[in-house]
Amino acid sequence: MRTAALLSAVAAATAVNAGPTRARATELEPITVKGNAFFQGDKRFYVRGVDYQPGGAAANIDPLADTKICLPDIEKFKKLGINVIRVYSTDNSKDHDECMNALADAGIYAVLDANNPLYSLHRYEPHGSYNTPYLQSVFATIDAFAKYSNTMAFFSGNEVVHDFKNTTLAAKYTKATDRDMRRYIKARNYRKILVGYSAADVKDNIMETATYFNCGSDEERSDFFAFNDYSWCTSDFVTAGWDKKVEAFRDYGLPLFLSEYGCNKNERNFRELESLMHSNMTSVYSGGLMYEYTMERNDFGIVEIKGGQENGGKDQTGDRKELDEFAAFAEAMEKYPAPTGDAGYNKNAKASECPAETDHWAVGTSTLPDIPEGALKFFDEGAGKGPGLNGPGSQWAVDQASTSEGSDTSSGTTDGDDTETSPNAAMRGTIPSLDTAPFLVSGAVLLFTVLGAVAL
Ligand SMILES: *[C@@H]1O[C@H](CO)[C@@H](O)[C@H](O)[C@H]1NC(C)=O
Ligand SMILES: *[C@@H]1O[C@H](CO)[C@@H](O)[C@H](O)[C@H]1NC(C)=O
Repeated sequence: MRTAALLSAVAAATAVNAGPTRARATELEPITVKGNAFFQGDKRFYVRGVDYQPGGAAANIDPLADTKICLPDIEKFKKLGINVIRVYSTDNSKDHDECMNALADAGIYAVLDANNPLYSLHRYEPHGSYNTPYLQSVFATIDAFAKYSNTMAFFSGNEVVHDFKNTTLAAKYTKATDRDMRRYIKARNYRKILVGYSAADVKDNIMETATYFNCGSDEERSDFFAFNDYSWCTSDFVTAGWDKKVEAFRDYGLPLFLSEYGCNKNERNFRELESLMHSNMTSVYSGGLMYEYTMERNDFGIVEIKGGQENGGKDQTGDRKELDEFAAFAEAMEKYPAPTGDAGYNKNAKASECPAETDHWAVGTSTLPDIPEGALKFFDEGAGKGPGLNGPGSQWAVDQASTSEGSDTSSGTTDGDDTETSPNAAMRGTIPSLDTAPFLVSGAVLLFTVLGAVAL
């Protein structure tokens, strides 16, 4: 049985007044954490989903604020049998009732990035970009989605730490944001919505990053950890090196999933799912999100939107066409269902030791920066009206940055190498048509510069 069908049954059983007037939405059981696993009630929950950002980061539109975009895609999601989508850009000044409710009706949860191209941390200037306008936008995104039972989680950042050692200090500010988000959710009396980070799979610092987000006090530890993996391309468990990625995380204390898994040699058979749902992985990993749903210039998609790549990708309402990989993905979803039982998850998962400073990791034992003073009022008053996706931007509001840096350690210049970089983070706004890591990284750097100029 497809998971969606199963979830719909759950949804139907728990539906509150889901009459034709749509007065109340379908309620899904909120996703919670026990040990290193996700749960839906007392049943283990596996992420079996897709990354969903029609137009890519360059278009920077919110697909959940427009029923002409989300509704036809939700029909496709049902055909695929997925249970989670990740959306990278959402507009915190807009209403999402119809799309979120339609997703709930389909048994689908959303994992949402709380930042967007104009309101995000700057990986090379993290201190100045950790400021009040940034947090206002992040918190306003929480306000916009906290009311939906199918908001599974928020990402506190996507690939902020990257190849070079000088980007690892940005981990401090991302983790501070992660902490602030948890505190905000609590202060505003929302239900416990999970908050975690989506990391780049950089060989030199992925384990440090993972342990860093799971170390320290419970207020500072994330609720889960995710990373973007591009190592499997019509491959297998061992060739892709996933066996080693299971061993590396064997004792890790947080739920773990792949926030992107992808390959753009489009003859994919999606056997990744076989391994993700196999006992080879399930005691350590909780599934993953296939990168990605729409066909963009970087060539990963399974659905083509007519006209979607024209005019900067601003119009994503065109006809949907299923590409060959759509059927392949649907078939894999059907063939490799979530396992039953708890798969031997680690019930006693605990905090990690904070990683020591190394040639590749600059954070050392430094403490987190305090929240910017101007942002403290949001805990009592709420974040107010969100700036949306086209506001003045936050990255250069350095005068409203935190006045504390935590304790700092020196930053070195050791280069990273061997990166499986995400086309999506690298692309925050670029046209991700280049398929080599170095290009993608310089694209990201360039992009931040462009955004900075826009923000001024
Ligand atoms: C499970 O692991 C074994 C040993 O590494 C490997 O040979 C096999 O292909 C894996 N199967 C799956 C479905 O990942
Ligand atoms: C970060 O380090 C890399 C590699 O050493 C270097 O090329 C780059 O200029 C540095 N960036 C900044 C902003 O310091």
